[in-house]
Parts: sequence; structure tokens; C-alpha cells
Amino acid sequence: MLPRERIVREILDHGGWISFARYMELALHARGGYYASGAGEPGAAGDFVTAPELGRLFGRTLARQLAPLVAQGPGLPILELGAGSGALAETLLGELAVDYWILETSAALRSRQEARLGKKVKHLDRLPERWRGIVLANEVADAMPVHLVAWRADGVKERGVAFQNQEFHWQERPATGGLQEEASKIRVPPPYESEIGLAARAWMRALCEHLEHGLILVIDYGFPRGEYYHPQRAAGTLMCHHRHTAHADPFARPGDEDITAHVDFSALAAAARGAGAEVLGFATQAQFLVNCGITEVLGQANVENALVYAPIAAQAQKLLSPAEMGELFKVLAVGKGIATPLLGFSRGDRRHAL
Ligand SMILES: C[S@@+](CC[C@H](N)C(=O)[O-])C[C@H]1O[C@@H](n2cnc3c(N)ncnc32)[C@H](O)[C@@H]1O
Repeated sequence: MLPRERIVREILDHGGWISFARYMELALHARGGYYASGAGEPGAAGDFVTAPELGRLFGRTLARQLAPLVAQGPGLPILELGAGSGALAETLLGELAVDYWILETSAALRSRQEARLGKKVKHLDRLPERWRGIVLANEVADAMPVHLVAWRADGVKERGVAFQNQEFHWQERPATGGLQEEASKIRVPPPYESEIGLAARAWMRALCEHLEHGLILVIDYGFPRGEYYHPQRAAGTLMCHHRHTAHADPFARPGDEDITAHVDFSALAAAARGAGAEVLGFATQAQFLVNCGITEVLGQANVENALVYAPIAAQAQKLLSPAEMGELFKVLAVGKGIATPLLGFSRGDRRHAL
């Protein structure tokens, strides 16, 4: 069954309405969904490009943060969540001698990762009961289903999906339960619409509960809470990507395009603290990469050879420029038992903003 038919069936089976989070889950992650089918593999030929897909500069710079942790004592293994095409794993394995594990929810993408990386990585089916090591998640949290909330003059509503006259429609109901509770903590001037990432919080909580010792790095686009629920962001951050074009209608092609929301990093930090982890750093991607020595990595490239150097310089521009990924993307580090300060947050740590 195609995702659209599956969603329609579920709406009808549930009395004509499902939450937007369920719609997003079915469109992206259920059988035949955008990620589940493999259509969501990032890259130039796909719908969007991620930092590891630009080239090796991102991974080589990140490796400088990870190297001391991988090398210390018995050495920490890496667990990458949602590895996409396997590009980041390939670069990191070129830089570090490390045990590398991947947990990937899409069977199609897992097959591609296995084909690309072979025996250099091992795949897990679920989070290990107890994990001692590093966890990496680049652009994974933004793919998690979000609940949509509308703050109206007469109270907080949940925006869900109905189906009438062969089309999906928005329909609001009073918010209830945990969603209502979370929404009531957010002070915004009505009318105001935004997202609440309950799934991402639960994911972060689970990661921290399973982490016995080590570091979790979440890299994604998003904001601390004060900026996320800013009075001027009254239409939220939900966005779709199709063939490198962004638009705001998630009903356009369920299963055939990306649906994403920015990450509320304050919520992730709170979830981590609630599960006994410590917040170790929070910085823009540009600041993090500069702290890790991206300019030194750049300096190792052959400046004399423009054919080699120009594409690497272009990667740096994309990764660092405030108009590209530099400011919007953030790096959040949480962990347990990591005593030494992390290189990536040596300057410009913005933990206070969380
Ligand atoms: C936007 S892609 C990013 C891929 C890769 N990390 C990159 O930066 O190119 C999202 C990836 O996360 C996977 N994914 C989504 N939710 C996940 C979850 N809960 N656990 C593990 N992987 C997940 C998707 O299947 C996909 O591989």
C-alpha cells in the first residue's frame, strides 16, 4: 500500500482524524515511506544535501573532536544513528581506528550502508541495553515526527489531519494530555502555530538512559527555546524538501518528499538532564568546526592546485557561512562520565542559552 493510501485508511479507521505526528510517521518512516523506501537518501541526486554529503571536510574535522575519546584507555566505539548514505561513517573510518556501529531505521538505507561500508561497520537493530561509547546523530532529530500545536484566543489546539473530498485538510482539536502540558509551558502570543517534538524528546531520553558512559553529539538545524518559539516565528518551522526546493505543504507528496521541523535544543537538553546526563556543550556548527580546527584541515589541502582546492573551499563556505549551515545548524553535546573539556566547545559555548 502506498503511503497516501495507508494514511487515508488510518484517518478513516480513526473516526476521520489523526495527529500530524502520526501523518509524518506514516509519510516518512512506515513501510513505503520516504525514508523507509530509501527515497530519502541525502545527496546531490536526492532532495537535499547534508554536511557529510558535501565532501570529507565535515567528517575530517569532526574526527579531531572524537580522536582523543576514541584513543583514551580501551577506546570508545562509535554508534552512528541514521547514517543515510554512509558518507560520514566512511570519512570517520578513514581518520580513526575505531569500532563503528550503525543503527538505521530504514531497511533500504541500511542495505545501501552495508553495500558501501561492508565489514567496516556493524549494524544494530535496536539501542544496546547499555552503551559505553560515542553516539552521533547528524540530521536525524529533524526527521522525527512532530506534533503541531496552535495557540488560539480560546485555548491550545492540536492541529491534525482529516480527509475530505479526496484531499487532506487541517483540522484542530483541543490539545490533551502530555501535548497540552508541554504547550502550556510555552508562552507565545496567539494566534501562533508551531511544533512540539515529543518523539525527539523521548528519543533523547532513551539514548541517555541507555548510555552508561560516553558522549552523544546531536547535530541539526534548530534553536534554543527562546528563539524557537519567538513571537515572530508564528507559523512554526515545518518544511518539505523535494529536488532541492523547499516548500511548506506536507500534504503535497506524502512518501515522496522530506518533511522536517527544526529542533528545539532546549527540549533535548532537558530530556538529557532528566535521564541523568550532563550537557557538555552547545554551539553553532561554524563555531564547533572552527574550534575543532577546520582551518588546519583546510590548510592540509593543496592550495596550489585550484582543481583540488576550490571544491574543498566551497565545502568550508557551506559549512561555516552564516547564510548557509554555519549559524542555523547547532551541535549539542551531552554525556556521562566525560571529565575532559571538549575541543569543539572551547570557545563560544552557548549552553547558557538552552
Ligand atoms: C536526513 S537523513 C540524514 C542522514 C545522515 N546522517 C546524513 O547526515 O547525511 C536522516 C536519517 O536518519 C534515519 N532515521 C530517522 N529516524 C531515525 C531513528 N529514530 N533512528 C535511527 N535512524 C533514524 C533515516 O532513515 C536517515 O538515514
